[in-house]
Amino acid sequence: MNRMTDLKPGEARCPGISVQDLLRQDSRTAPNYLTAESYAFLGDGDIPFERYTSPDYFQQELKLLWPKVWQWACREEHIPEPGDYIVYDFGPYSVIVQRTESGAIKAFRNACTHRGTKLKPANSEGSGSQIRCPYHGWTWDLEGRLASFPCEWDFPHVDPADYGLGQVRVDTWGGFVFVNLDPDAPPLREYMHPLPEHVASAVFEDRYVAMHVQKELNCNWKVASEAFLEAYHVMETHSQLMRASGDANTQYDFYGDNVNRLINVAGSPGVFLKEPITEQEILDCFLIGDRSDVDSKLLVPEGGTARKVMAQYYRDMVAAQGGADLSGVCDSEIVDSIAYFVFPNQQFFSGVSFPIVYRFRPLGMQHDKSLFDLVILKPKPRNGEPFETAAPVRIRSEVSYETVPGMDPYIGHIYDQDTGNMEAAQEGAMTSGKRGATLANYQEIRIRHMHRTLEKYLGR
Ligand code: FES
Ligand SMILES: [Fe+2]
Repeated sequence: MNRMTDLKPGEARCPGISVQDLLRQDSRTAPNYLTAESYAFLGDGDIPFERYTSPDYFQQELKLLWPKVWQWACREEHIPEPGDYIVYDFGPYSVIVQRTESGAIKAFRNACTHRGTKLKPANSEGSGSQIRCPYHGWTWDLEGRLASFPCEWDFPHVDPADYGLGQVRVDTWGGFVFVNLDPDAPPLREYMHPLPEHVASAVFEDRYVAMHVQKELNCNWKVASEAFLEAYHVMETHSQLMRASGDANTQYDFYGDNVNRLINVAGSPGVFLKEPITEQEILDCFLIGDRSDVDSKLLVPEGGTARKVMAQYYRDMVAAQGGADLSGVCDSEIVDSIAYFVFPNQQFFSGVSFPIVYRFRPLGMQHDKSLFDLVILKPKPRNGEPFETAAPVRIRSEVSYETVPGMDPYIGHIYDQDTGNMEAAQEGAMTSGKRGATLANYQEIRIRHMHRTLEKYLGR
């Protein structure tokens, strides 16, 4: 029984307006995938701090988790031409994602089949008609077939057919190229279910990388990822957001083992906001930050809402720019943060007005070092005009997002607030005499869901 009510664990919800209440007030009927909730109580035991602090636990993850999961390595437009390649690294693993002669995409283990030398430097990219080892010059074609090696007379035991580069599973969705080291892994779409059924691939395919920031963090990769799996921290960490976006009334759903979701409403005040606020004031708050390109004189009509005004503004703006027809797209799909997590380390925000993607991965071989990729997408020009894929800007843990060229300072400040919590969370987990982290039944269900799957991989 719940301490506060006679509800069963996990049944209690934040008092005040819910996401579903808001969807019902919107100007369009929201689609089923948004109105259907998918939550269940998964227990309330603590999550052992060992999972963040133990080098042994990290070694188990490196062995049993990372070689078996699908994760996006790059965008298709990172390697547009035959011969283009990009290297994706996670922990000790490194994969070459290669555009072949036929235009198909292949992926290989970044290791020579002679004596194992890493073929391309970590995080590198480039183009070439073949792949050549810098040590003794063994050479493969773009399909990964061994094409030549010096002094063949000394290797009578080497049949070139057996010495191709190690093949890595590869598939695409939404313009992202996904890789998986496990030849027996389920197909990508099965793994990502129900995300491809909820969100059309085109939502992400029709966009390009306008900004990419890679931040090095002094924390376990899960500490970083979990900072974005709940909105429970908004009241304390980002109190500036409460005037125009939801907090404790955020909706959380999970599906199967690999996918979970958060719907954080925009254009509605957080339920913790103490002072009254008008719809016009909400709209004005909404227009700061990256929305500063929006007409600052937008007005909420009598009886209207900030959400409806913002949604309609985007529909009109996109239409005026010759973009997609958003007339049937509901307000929530335009203005809200609808964030899909795909196990173990990636989050896709499908909202029209702020499409972003996160990725978290171990940095090298240390349990308390990670790399956070923040990718901001923009619609590709409709008229076929060229666009430029932004190169990643790498910053160290102590550097502010606000210093990244092109970063909106308002948005940069939010990410500084988030990453500012992470090192303290890591250090506190080390010094805590308590066994582990205690989670909210509802608002932190995505963290528990992620750990449930993690433990399945680790066989515990
Ligand atoms: S290690 Fe690669 S050619 Fe020898
Ligand atoms: Fe945050």
